[in-house]
Amino acid sequence: MSFQRTLITSALPYTNGYIHLGHCAGAYLPADMYARYMRLMGEEVLYICGSDEHGAAISIAAEQEGVSPREIIDKYHADNLDAFRRFGMSFDWYSRTSLPLHKETAREFFLAMKEAGHLTERAEDQFYDPSADMFLPDRYVEGECPKCGSDKARGDQCDSCGAYYDQTELKNPVSLISGKTPEVRKTSHWYLQLGHFQTFLEEFVGQHTEWKDTVIQQSMGWLKQGLEDRCITRDLNWGVEVPLDDAEGKVIYVWFEAVLGYISATKEWAAHNNTPEAWETWWKDSTTRYLAFIGKDNLVFHALLFPAILHARNDGYILPDNVPANEFMNLEGEKFSKSRRWGIDLRDYLSEFTEPQHVDALRYVLAKNMPENKDSDFIWKDFQARVNNELGNQLGNFVRRSLHFLQKQFDGIVPEPEADEYVQSWQRIAEAVRNGTEPQPSAVEVLGPQGFELVSALASGMQRVSQHYNQFRFRDAVLESMNIAQAANKFFNDSEPWKLVKDNKEQCATVLFACVQTIKCLAVVFEPILPNSAQQLRELLHVDTLRWSDAPMPTVAPGTAITDAPILFTKVEDSTIDAQVEKLKARSAAMNLHEHEVEYDIPENVVTFDQVMDVRLKTATILEAEKVKKSKKLLKLQIDLGYEQRQIVAGIAQYYTPEDIVGKTIVVVANLKPAKLMGIESQGMLLAVNTTGGELRLVIPDGEVGAGMDVR
Ligand code: MF3
Ligand code: ZN
Repeated sequence: MSFQRTLITSALPYTNGYIHLGHCAGAYLPADMYARYMRLMGEEVLYICGSDEHGAAISIAAEQEGVSPREIIDKYHADNLDAFRRFGMSFDWYSRTSLPLHKETAREFFLAMKEAGHLTERAEDQFYDPSADMFLPDRYVEGECPKCGSDKARGDQCDSCGAYYDQTELKNPVSLISGKTPEVRKTSHWYLQLGHFQTFLEEFVGQHTEWKDTVIQQSMGWLKQGLEDRCITRDLNWGVEVPLDDAEGKVIYVWFEAVLGYISATKEWAAHNNTPEAWETWWKDSTTRYLAFIGKDNLVFHALLFPAILHARNDGYILPDNVPANEFMNLEGEKFSKSRRWGIDLRDYLSEFTEPQHVDALRYVLAKNMPENKDSDFIWKDFQARVNNELGNQLGNFVRRSLHFLQKQFDGIVPEPEADEYVQSWQRIAEAVRNGTEPQPSAVEVLGPQGFELVSALASGMQRVSQHYNQFRFRDAVLESMNIAQAANKFFNDSEPWKLVKDNKEQCATVLFACVQTIKCLAVVFEPILPNSAQQLRELLHVDTLRWSDAPMPTVAPGTAITDAPILFTKVEDSTIDAQVEKLKARSAAMNLHEHEVEYDIPENVVTFDQVMDVRLKTATILEAEKVKKSKKLLKLQIDLGYEQRQIVAGIAQYYTPEDIVGKTIVVVANLKPAKLMGIESQGMLLAVNTTGGELRLVIPDGEVGAGMDVR
């Protein structure tokens, strides 16, 4: 399949808070780099984003601040858009989900889903706050986690242990509206029967073997658990009203409508350009390639829910071709946390680091640390080191010393290279490198060993950078880009123009001609990462447009006047960094909630060696497994302990099917007092890992180990 255009979206940020650096590294910077790269390649690109303006989080923020949701979204929409602009985000359109066009689009999809028979209405228990006279959506209640007991667990999810549950399972629930204990009442909602799409989604994900491992694994994991009905309406008065007669006070679940925001935003863009039909080319033409950039917490909605919605519409909509989800970026070793005030908002950074070069510096460091395959960390010391050593001493230094030399020795005028065939030989070598063929020896001779090395480095470096972008390997793309700057410095050093200028001015001119061409090449290759510096260089060299294809070619004409030798990146001082770290700590200390510091005061709960030995851990083989009726969570297992067989009941049904685990050797507590779970006797307990993603993973011994072995 050959694609003719690329549609790019970034997750629509909620408008109840500011964009922070973790968001940038996750879903925005990579998409922007990719869009810029594709444009340099001459591809047709449409990059769409916008504000996600519904959801309970926004109505809660409004209630807490005593203003209307409209005031909240207007404020954050404007502020976030402004920060994004200053950060160099090259959106073609930035929309909002509160617009009528979006609501229409969302309702249309909702009704089509219902028409097609994928929705079912059902009444279920939910918390109800009598004093506020309303049902409480998940975010409106807090209580104790039914799994780990932590207080402040949210209605559907516990932040401490990652567990997901139904809100009515919360212990000691409190309404966030009244602070009172809510009642349980039945309310009727529409459920999307995701199970209808199980096979379709398995095929869809299954055919994309090129997706990131983390993305495939997560998606397959959900599919393996089996897709269940998902409630897609809420009792709220802020959102897209459910377009049915008997649905007063109900809105469409924010995730169902927000993903459709990509489509309505494209419609808005098209209308704005006086080509109202043009949106269909981007969403319904199979020659359009669609890439959805997101952070990992949005994966289920983009890899499964959104494709299911598009497919169900049965109206020619294309599906995401890739979902390059990133992991999370932490800050100085800890998670970004709004409640603990641990974070750096983009707008804070931009208000303290105000020059265009600082935007580029931040983009560079975020890209270099992008959480592509695992969580990463933003550390101020690392920021300083990278800006000074890489941007300053490599890229900036080459530009500065070349152009400074050009000023001093050639009055800033790009000189003619010495040999007549120089430009042509350069082109031939670059072509040969590109095509993987042997360059003509005569051309190599004209350029000389250093010139040949330089041109090869430019041409092959550009190709490697391309390959990395094509595979969404942004860290590597940045690394290879910087390698080109390094090769440029090596050329300058090896050629020693400061010596040549004394005894071979023609050769010196050739070196400087090559340096100027190299600066142009760097302007192109760094444009996706450092748009401001790239623009500065482009203007300086009087280059109209930057193009990937001719970047390594000598296209800057002799005689061009270059009037400046800029310092692209000024040094970041220790004091600057120290002040930032101080500020970060002071803010979070003011919250007085810094987990680690608190933890130090709590004595560890020590157990003695003997106490540990009292617990008899044994390996056991699973002989049989079956689901416990009427329970989503429990599996009944028959296990072989080597010396006897037993039955245990384990809460792993959401993570393992019986077929998954029969025959596996696991670890169990063999001397646990028997207990009954849902009326079934359980004679022991198995060990499993509670992952940060809120899943369970069995503890399994390494290598071939039989049943009945001691574990210690
Ligand atoms: N607002 C969500 C968040 O910030 C992302 C929504 S992406 C969309 O996590 F596709 F649903 F819009
Ligand atoms: Zn918990």
